Amino acid sequence: MKPPVNVVVNRVINVVILAAGLGTRMKSKHAKVLHRAGGLSLVEHVVQAASGITDAAHITVVIGHQGEQVKQRLASTGVRFVEQTEQKGTGHAVMACRAALESEDGLVVVLYGDCPLLSENTLRELVNRQASGDAAVTLITTRLEDPTGYGRILFGKRGEVAAIVEQKAASKEQLAIQLVNPGIYCFRAELLWKHIGEIRPDNPAHEYYLTDMVEILNKAGHTAAAFEVPDSAELLGINTRVELAAADKIFRDRKVRELMLDGVTIERPETVTIDGQVRIGADSIVEPFARILGRTAIGADCRIGAGSIIENSELGDAVHILPLTSIADSRIEAGAHVGPFARLRNGNLVGAGGHIGNFVELKNTQFGAGAKASHLAYLGDSEIGEQANIGAGTITCNYDGVKKHRTRIGKKAFVGSNSTLVAPIEIGEGSYIGAGSVITKPVPAAALALGRAHQVVKEGWAAKKKKKAE
Ligand code: UD1
Ligand code: MG
Repeated sequence: MKPPVNVVVNRVINVVILAAGLGTRMKSKHAKVLHRAGGLSLVEHVVQAASGITDAAHITVVIGHQGEQVKQRLASTGVRFVEQTEQKGTGHAVMACRAALESEDGLVVVLYGDCPLLSENTLRELVNRQASGDAAVTLITTRLEDPTGYGRILFGKRGEVAAIVEQKAASKEQLAIQLVNPGIYCFRAELLWKHIGEIRPDNPAHEYYLTDMVEILNKAGHTAAAFEVPDSAELLGINTRVELAAADKIFRDRKVRELMLDGVTIERPETVTIDGQVRIGADSIVEPFARILGRTAIGADCRIGAGSIIENSELGDAVHILPLTSIADSRIEAGAHVGPFARLRNGNLVGAGGHIGNFVELKNTQFGAGAKASHLAYLGDSEIGEQANIGAGTITCNYDGVKKHRTRIGKKAFVGSNSTLVAPIEIGEGSYIGAGSVITKPVPAAALALGRAHQVVKEGWAAKKKKKAE
C-alpha cells in the first residue's frame, strides 16, 4: 500500500471522484461513467489516475445512477463510496462527501468520472502546485479550439482566477473564451468544507455548481490559482458517444505507440484494438484489424493474424495465430499454431508446438504438446495426449442433453477423419480409430477400433441395373 501522506507534498490527499450522474447526453440506459474507452470504463481510468497520487482508502467515489454497478466495477480497487441520492449538480455531489471527509486536514482533489485521459503526472503537478502556493484552490485549464460545453475561466486583475462561468450562463463575449475548465481541482481541505455549503442553485439549470466555489473563495478573501496544460487531449470530458469514440481512439493510439516503442511490430496500427493492460513481447508482429483485449499477455516472437480476437488469454513465445481466429480465456504454449478460422473458448490449454487448424473449435480442452487437429473438428471437455493426431471432422459428443462428459485421448493416438467420440469415453495411448467411426466404448492402448458398417462391393452392378431398366 502507498503511504497515505504523499511523499512530495507531505500532506494527506483525499481524492473525490464524481460519478453519480446519468449522463443524459449519452442517450443511454447505462450510467455514463460505465461506458468504456480503451478497454476500461471511464470511472476505472479516473480511479487509476487517482491511485497515482494517493492510496485507495483516500479515494472516495460519489455514486448515484446505477450506483451498485459502479461499486461492482470498482470493487477490486478498494476505494470508498458515498451516495448522492439526488443528482443536483457537481457542487451537491462534493457536499455529499463532507460528513465523511471534513475531519481530515490536508488537500482534497476533485475529479469528474467522465474525464478518463487524465495522466498521473498532471495530477502530481496539480497537487505540488497547490501544496507549494498559498491559494485556496488550484485548478487546471486548457485552451480548446472549440470550447463549447465547457465552463470558461475568467481572470481577475492580478492574474488570479476570478470565476468559472458555465456554458449555459455565459454571455456572448464569455462564450468566445477558449480557456476552459476541464474539472480538475485541488482544494485546501478545511476551506473547501468550510465554504461548500455556500453554493446556491441560482443558475438557469438550478444546479449546485462546484465551479461556483471559485467566486465563493474569492469573496471570502482567498485566491484561486490555475495552470494551463498544453495537451488538451488529456483533459477531454466525455459527454456524448462522439467524445467517447474520440477518447477510445486516443487510448488505442497511445497503447500501440507504447508497444511499438517497446519492440512490437504493428502493421497498420490505426486498425488494431489493444486494451491498456495487454502485454506483448519484443519482435512479435500484430497484423491489421487484430483485437487484443482484457488481461491478455503475449510472449516474444509471436504473430497475431489479421482480424483475430484474443481476450484474457496467455500466449507463450513464438506462438502463431493465423488470421480470423477467436481465442478467449485460454493458454497457448510456446511454438503452437492456431487458425486460421479457429475458435478457442472457455478454458483451454494448448501445449507447446500444438497445431490447431482451420475451423477447429476447442472448449475446456487440454490439448497436449505437439498434438495436431488440423481441420474441421470440435473438441469439448476433453484431454488430448501429446502428439496425438485428430483427423478432420472429429467430433467429441460431450453433451447428452443434460450433462457434459469428458473425452480422454492418450498420447500419440491416431483418430481417423470424421470420427464421432461419444463421451464419456477413453481412447488409449497409441491406439488407432478408423475413419468414419462412431466410438461408444473405451479403446485400449495400441488397439485399432472400427465403429462403422462394412463396405459392400457388388461387381458389375451398374450394368445389371441398366439392363433391368430397358
Ligand atoms: C462540468 C463543469 C464544467 C467543465 C466540464 C468539464 C460544473 C458545474 N461544470 O460540466 O465547468 O467544463 O465539467 O468536463 O461542474 N456528477 C455527479 N452528480 C451530479 C452531477 C454530476 O456525480 O449531481 C458527475 C457526473 O457523473 C460526471 C461529472 O460529475 O462524471 C461531471 O458532470 P457533467 O454533467 O458531465 O458536467 P459537465 O456539464 O460536463
Ligand atoms: Mg462532463
